[in-house]
Amino acid sequence: MAKKKIALVGAGNIGATLAHLILQRKLAEVVLIDIAEGMTQGKALDLCQAAAIDGIDLNVLGTRDFKALSQADIVIITAGIARKPGMSRDDLLQVNAQIIQEIGQQIRQHCPETFVIVITNPLDAMVWLMQKSCGLPFQRVVGMAGVLDSGRFQYFLAAALNVSVRDIQTFVLGGHGDGMVALPRYTTISGVPLQAWIDQGKLSKQQLETLIERTRNGGAEIVNLIQTGSAYYAPASAALQMAEAYLYDQKRILPCAAWLQGHYGVKDIYAGVPVVIGANGVEKILELSLTEIEQQQFDTSVQGVRNLIQTLNTLGVS
Ligand code: NAD
Ligand code: LAC
Repeated sequence: MAKKKIALVGAGNIGATLAHLILQRKLAEVVLIDIAEGMTQGKALDLCQAAAIDGIDLNVLGTRDFKALSQADIVIITAGIARKPGMSRDDLLQVNAQIIQEIGQQIRQHCPETFVIVITNPLDAMVWLMQKSCGLPFQRVVGMAGVLDSGRFQYFLAAALNVSVRDIQTFVLGGHGDGMVALPRYTTISGVPLQAWIDQGKLSKQQLETLIERTRNGGAEIVNLIQTGSAYYAPASAALQMAEAYLYDQKRILPCAAWLQGHYGVKDIYAGVPVVIGANGVEKILELSLTEIEQQQFDTSVQGVRNLIQTLNTLGVS
């Protein structure tokens, strides 16, 4: 079987971590594209040598030449600046928008059949801009955030209940920002609704609220600890789940930033919702029924995304 090819645009913290994970999973050959050419070639060479040590016959190319995008099965975008302490994801808007537009043009030219996973922040607005820039069908341009945010909630909840992370299923929806919407009502522990655990006194409402707030602040918590950048191991693992679902046609149900056309009462915008990812990209959007409060939270979160897009339009970026 022909080897798959994944292009990683951005060879920084997340991009390089992703490259190593892709090799370790024997998923695909890797192309690392970054403006920092020496760093990119150095990381690629180091990764090739790691693969040799691990007995993995997959190559890694490091370059700044976007022609290397050609024939990529998947393109994962982490190019741009990450936030520093005191910055919000929204503060990255103008700088990263310019970068996303340029990369979108390169994708349009070199690999118009690919599947694009955007990670660069502010996530939902960057996915929207990427799709406009590259012109690929909406179902082939998706954003990674919900898998990360849900994973954070999963980790916090498993620790609070002293259960395996493997037995927790949950969704965090909406924009990848302070208004993200955790859904305790749709959270189960080994198939048992979280509410039953609360009713049995295993978790108080206050504890639950604290975990949800910590999830919303999950990115900032790590930025404040690392000081020089933001999270990258968990974001890389989250993007890998999406990439595997596409490459292996797994029909995984994952919370991703997807194009909404009336789903959840929202039109013409990207926001985090549960989707089915398979060989055709975002194959289906799953509509969960939301309570009035959950819908209000979702609408508020989506409004934050609309505000960013409005700013881009005002800046003449679209
Ligand atoms: P990083 O600074 O380590 O890496 C970014 C890389 O992009 C750098 O190597 C830089 O040289 C490169 N770059 C800049 N401009 C470029 C261009 N025009 N073409 C190609 N490469 C270019 O940052 P990181 O920690 O890897 O984070 C990357 C992005 O992902 C940031 O915007 C960050 O906010 C975002 N992020 C998103 C999530 C999410 O859940 N969606 C989570 C964490 C981080
Ligand atoms: C995070 C930010 C940086 O969630 O998006 O880690």
